[in-house]
Amino acid sequence: FSRSMVTICEVGPRDGLQNEKMIVPTNTKVELIERLAKSGLTTIESTAFVSPKWVPQMADATEVLKGIAESPNLDHSKLSFPVLTPNLKGFERALEAKSKHIAIFAASSEGFSKKNINCTIEESLERFKPVCVAAKKNNVKVRGYLSTVIACPYDGPTDPNQVAKITEKLLEMGCYEVSLGDTIGVGTPSTIDKMLRTVTASVPASKLAMHAHDTYGQGVANCTVALDRGITTFDASVAGLGGCPYAKGATGNVATEDVVYMLQGFGLANEIDLVELAKTGKWISDILGRTGARAGNAICAK
Ligand code: HMG
Ligand code: MG
Repeated sequence: FSRSMVTICEVGPRDGLQNEKMIVPTNTKVELIERLAKSGLTTIESTAFVSPKWVPQMADATEVLKGIAESPNLDHSKLSFPVLTPNLKGFERALEAKSKHIAIFAASSEGFSKKNINCTIEESLERFKPVCVAAKKNNVKVRGYLSTVIACPYDGPTDPNQVAKITEKLLEMGCYEVSLGDTIGVGTPSTIDKMLRTVTASVPASKLAMHAHDTYGQGVANCTVALDRGITTFDASVAGLGGCPYAKGATGNVATEDVVYMLQGFGLANEIDLVELAKTGKWISDILGRTGARAGNAICAK
């Protein structure tokens, strides 16, 4: 590998926490974000401006952003805190909370689109267009997500050509990158490689990110395949927190500690303090009663 730069998009405070049954206090969420930043992570997805009826854990999105803005421990000139916005209402709430970085999220399968955001893929893309226009007008960066890139819990396997097609549409709309989500973590290095080969035939790898979930323990292996295909942005969640409320059985994202350990083995992501990150993973796991990440536990046991 000759990549000199990789980016980790830490999604623990959003993808990680959104599925937790216990409502995590806002100040704990803000402290988690502060600790993640202290470990050297610079992109930390912090919350979601989605319907609180759909995802009650994210109901305090405005308060989380206020906590971030007022934190004396966060250097805003170096850090980015993307938030999810499913529609214009979400965008307006995010803007009101002074967000400078949002993410829109589409699916590659109709079943998941309907269950997750209550509309068809086509309707969702129509809904995202005015969000992208408003974001551009307000100087807000837009990331794109595409879910179920390997398979859908409702519709079965996904055609890689469908993934390529919707990725192109999200980029045309103004997303600076599209994060490819193996939402239910069923991908293997073989299926991820096949999907990425198809997508990178029409989209440069520099416009893609890998968003792996670890349901079958393939997360790190799948990130390694993505790295080999030229992808240098990886979404991961501290302690492997998470799961998707609209994808039954999906466990958390690939753990940030595990991904960073793998990357540092290649001489990458050296700006991240893995010991500090492991301590943060242990801290939040203890609060939530979870077991934590493999690499994080090994480091803490030393
Ligand atoms: P809907 O019920 O079709 O929306 O939900 P609606 O437009 O008909 O509005 C219904 C009510 O919700 C109204 O309130 C709206 O004002 C309100 P009422 O009049 O009944 O009091 N509402 C909102 N409130 C706050 N913020 C908003 C908002 N929008 C409407 N933004 C909707 C459609 C998209 C809102 C809903 O389905 C939703 O919030 N879905 C989000 C689900 C979600 O957050 N899923 C998890 C994130 S995606 C994910 O995890 C995958 C990812 O990690 C990648 C991967 O792994 O693949 C990104
Ligand atoms: Mg996810």
